[in-house]
Amino acid sequence: KAKLAILISGRGSNMIALAEAARDPACPFEIVRVLSNDPAAAGLAEAERRGIPIWAHSHKGLKRADYDALLDAELRAAGAEYVALAGYMRLLSPGFVAGWAGRMVNIHPSLLPAYKGLDTHNRVLAAGDAEHGCTVHLVTAELDDGPILGQARVPVLPGDDEESLAARVLAEEHRLYARCLADLVSR
Ligand code: GAR
Repeated sequence: KAKLAILISGRGSNMIALAEAARDPACPFEIVRVLSNDPAAAGLAEAERRGIPIWAHSHKGLKRADYDALLDAELRAAGAEYVALAGYMRLLSPGFVAGWAGRMVNIHPSLLPAYKGLDTHNRVLAAGDAEHGCTVHLVTAELDDGPILGQARVPVLPGDDEESLAARVLAEEHRLYARCLADLVSR
């Protein structure tokens, strides 16, 4: 099986979805490490509960490239072959990204190239869009850029607020991410 590491900064629901998918014997990847730049990230406890080794180290006080070098060393030590960003809310240094070219993926809560960056659900609501969704893409040096591996669409419904729309998108994220990773590692 392909060895996958997951980077999180928060609750880690996408990480949990990947961990659940990996329990299927037919799943072509296994999760070797969950890493976080926030030692208080709620997802870390969820990873531990599932028996996944964790690594947590705050980025505070470190230059971006120095922090990313720590991250890279830990990923290599863990034997990771692929890296999935799952709500990892830090920009990555160009050198780090280059070292994982073609093997690092991100999930973003919009139909890229629309709505790069933060606060996507509110921006979709403000624009009056009829449709929204999520995207899994290979990570390149540009934020929320890079070749698209898959997308899932949801309708924006009358009466939606940020919470209801985010929940509808998140349910699709959880399905899409495992599917795209399985495809990528099977290429
Ligand atoms: C997810 O919706 C993910 O797409 C988004 O953060 C959330 C993390 O939730 N990522 C980004 O906005 C990246 N720019 P999770 O911690 O429950 O997976």
